[in-house]
Amino acid sequence: MAAVKKELIGMLNKALELEHAARIQYLCHAELIKGLNAEKIIDRLTEIASDEEKHEKKFRNLIGNYLDGEPSMGMAPTHRASEVPEILKINRKGEKEAIDFYKEIYQKVVDAKKDLPYEFETLEHEIRHVILDEEEHVAELTVLLGD
Ligand SMILES: [Fe+2]
Ligand SMILES: [Fe+2]
Repeated sequence: MAAVKKELIGMLNKALELEHAARIQYLCHAELIKGLNAEKIIDRLTEIASDEEKHEKKFRNLIGNYLDGEPSMGMAPTHRASEVPEILKINRKGEKEAIDFYKEIYQKVVDAKKDLPYEFETLEHEIRHVILDEEEHVAELTVLLGD
């Protein structure tokens, strides 16, 4: 196996672990939100969590079916928060960190195009689309934060 494929499996597994953590964190934070405007925020957080679940599936598929690797069952660290602004801020920070890391993976894929003759377009497309979703999550959390 080309060295770059091994490297990509490692990076995508780290991304998969970030997605596991993000989904659990959004769902747990959603349970803590109470009060007059709770429902809209809860709906938004659970909707984002379901996007993260779709990202997990994409990453597992890329790792297992396109790169012949083994998808991780692990999870990156999660972060506790209690008040709504803190919850929104901590998740927005996580989204931005994920975007920064996914852009590194994207660049690695672009640089390795010639070593990925039957995988490049799928990897490029899927990772790019996950980045678009994460940018949408940042925008949605920013609307709720109103900053
Ligand atoms: Fe995600
Ligand atoms: Fe996200």
